[in-house]
Amino acid sequence: MNPAAKAIIAVLLGAALCRVGAAADPASSALPMVESYCQWQQTDLMINEPLCGLKGDAQRGRAIATDGNRGNCVACHNMPFADVEAYGTIGPSLAGIGGRYPEGYIRMRVVDTKSFNPASIMPGYYRDPAKIHRPATAYVGRTFLTAQQVEDVIAFLMTMK
Ligand code: HEC
Repeated sequence: MNPAAKAIIAVLLGAALCRVGAAADPASSALPMVESYCQWQQTDLMINEPLCGLKGDAQRGRAIATDGNRGNCVACHNMPFADVEAYGTIGPSLAGIGGRYPEGYIRMRVVDTKSFNPASIMPGYYRDPAKIHRPATAYVGRTFLTAQQVEDVIAFLMTMK
């Protein structure tokens, strides 16, 4: 990459980081922290290995799934939570999902559904940033969720049996 392009990217990332830094609670910011992207392998519509070899935390995953600034899964999916007032119904209910499918399938869905169903409206939460067509400036080189956040959500989904 030439130095000018590098400088532009550095400025963009710097601006995005400032936004994270300025938020009252960085943990609930819409922007994941910058981290290097881990390549994943798909076999028969499954991603069997955890992203970057990370272990998920189901408690954190539940918070991410219901956080309107982060996973926001409840915008499209029903989940059986007493404390969530309204659910979207565009996607199928995720109640009992961990008992219906293997973890590798669920990981594939969350990471990049569009890679096998280009018509899906579900965001690819860990889609290769290089494949995202004209992302908003703040998302250049980023995934919607970090690898750790994706693994947290999956750990949580696996508890819903
Ligand atoms: C903009 C709406 C939208 C959002 C947000 C969304 N999904 Fe989806 N999801 C869908 C739709 C629609 C489908 C049905 C299949 C398809 O169209 O790809 C789906 C399918 C799925 C499936 C497969 C279900 C099955 O029975 O095969 C899983 C698992 C899933 N979503 C998990 C999640 C998780 C976890 C999140 C949050 C991190 C999330 N989704 C966020 C719309 C969404």
